[in-house]
Amino acid sequence: MISVQNVHKRFGSQVVLDGVSIEIEPGKTTTVVGPSGVGKSVLLKLIMGIMAPDSGEIFIGGDNITKARSEASKNKIRQQLGVLFQSAALFDSLTIYENIRFPLLERAGLSSSKAHGKVLAIAESLSLGPYLANYPEQVSIGIRKRVGMARALITEPKVLLVDEPNTGLDPLDGQEVYDLINACKNQWGFTGLVISHELPEVFQVSERVAMILGGKIIAEGTPAEMIASTDPAVQQFLNGRTDGPIKIQ
Ligand SMILES: Nc1ncnc2c1ncn2[C@@H]1O[C@H](COP(=O)(O)OP(=O)(O)OP(=O)(O)O)[C@@H](O)[C@H]1O
Ligand SMILES: [Mg+2]
Repeated sequence: MISVQNVHKRFGSQVVLDGVSIEIEPGKTTTVVGPSGVGKSVLLKLIMGIMAPDSGEIFIGGDNITKARSEASKNKIRQQLGVLFQSAALFDSLTIYENIRFPLLERAGLSSSKAHGKVLAIAESLSLGPYLANYPEQVSIGIRKRVGMARALITEPKVLLVDEPNTGLDPLDGQEVYDLINACKNQWGFTGLVISHELPEVFQVSERVAMILGGKIIAEGTPAEMIASTDPAVQQFLNGRTDGPIKIQ
């Protein structure tokens, strides 16, 4: 569904991605893990076409986003992607109804009347009906995450991208987000790509895991295979140890 092929990205003299290749299989959720600063968010931005790689190519459903020149052609490819940002990134000045509706008006170009039924339907699926007239600051963080999910899924994307689902959440709210991702996956059946350093919790939403370190994917497999890995860097990261091949900054 997404194919990342030998991608390189540097900022000045800092090499961040040094030949990253990964295949995101359709219908499954892949989690990219790794310590802070290894380039996980950069990889996500490259996939979304917000940033361009120095070399290498990225295909989304067969379309090469690294070769797309105009914003219009990038946007066409981006229609396959829904994005759930860290802290949900809602618009504070819009009601929850307007936040959920936003991509339909702005990206899919629907009229308000056509969008109305879709907003009500997804709000119903995610139990957001009672909150539609509220503003984001009036509801809990768990509900805000559900609104973010509704906004990401309302255009029925093939792929859901999630960057750090749980940053800033306490463990209970965090668990709610994982349950939400799994429930939505069952209902909408998307391909998932989740970026996280929350281990092993994130494994509950992952069918595949890839670990980035030193600009490369150093290990890849099912959660069980990662846990059983004998790679010292994988074990150090999984167990949160300070001693080992990963340098703690
Ligand atoms: N636009 C940019 N300009 C310069 N450097 C950047 C830019 N974006 C990212 N970087 C650098 O690239 C490196 C990787 O950043 P990135 O945000 O991808 O890390 P990450 O793996 O997502 O970390 P975290 O787990 O903390 O979110 C960092 O050293 C960061 O400072
Ligand atoms: Mg990040």
